[in-house]
Amino acid sequence: MIAEKCMFPAAGYGTRFLPATKSMPKEMLPIVNRPLIEFGVEEASAAGMNEICIVTGRGKRAIEDHFDVNYELEHEIAGSSKEQFLAQIRQLTSDCTFSFTRQRTMSGLGDAVLTGRTLVGDEPFGLILADDLCLNLAGQGVMQQMQAVATQHDCSVIAVMDVPPDQVSKYGIVVGEQVDDDLLKVSAMVEKPPVDEAPSTLAVIGRYLLSPEIFTHLQATKPGAGGEIQLTDALNALAQSGKLLAYRFAGLRFDCGSIDGFVEATQYYYENVVSNDG
Ligand code: G1P
Repeated sequence: MIAEKCMFPAAGYGTRFLPATKSMPKEMLPIVNRPLIEFGVEEASAAGMNEICIVTGRGKRAIEDHFDVNYELEHEIAGSSKEQFLAQIRQLTSDCTFSFTRQRTMSGLGDAVLTGRTLVGDEPFGLILADDLCLNLAGQGVMQQMQAVATQHDCSVIAVMDVPPDQVSKYGIVVGEQVDDDLLKVSAMVEKPPVDEAPSTLAVIGRYLLSPEIFTHLQATKPGAGGEIQLTDALNALAQSGKLLAYRFAGLRFDCGSIDGFVEATQYYYENVVSNDG
């Protein structure tokens, strides 16, 4: 199973970052000088997923503009030393295609993914939640690692990490049987359980590589935790049929949906990348 497309749900309000996100999409918040979503698109592209499918909502136009040419600006700085600052985004926009659709009501991650079906079609696809920033400066990005696992096992894969018990209620929590050092066959998943009901401390982060079968499960999924259509519930159905692997990825993950995680990521990126670039 190989994915050539990657979906980015990007319709959420980003209320934790108000007022910064009042008129700016949270996916455009920068880690130093690069918007969060650009890191995700770069990770997808490095994994061979060059068809980028973004599920947006009202007030998200800046995302479309970011992955397009800005003729006026580019003409203005052409031939100057400032052009170097556009090198990475130019590379991405020439390597990838971008398509967009809009989620009309905020009915949960599962609903956003179902909305993106029209862009993805009947093919395996990567799914990246851009506010989870994953960096593996010394090796392969998380999506690239997952592409290798999905190809080898011909199976859907989710990325997981251990979290402290007091954090389990923030995540989809996974149980399963060990297949390998870093691989589990998922037997069940539950969305944001209270700590005393959590079946483990293994949490899914915002990286998924899914067979299109997930759409059938999503269509049958009723509103769950928080009254929203939960991707985790559809993944649980996939797991029940023995078709879901959980992969302990190599690298660092920052929860940039929270202020603390965002600051931590900024610090890390500044110290390990920006300041080394001179
Ligand atoms: C979403 C998913 C959750 C997952 C998390 C990873 O939650 O619903 O299962 O563990 O992303 O960041 P959110 O953070 O959007 O509330």
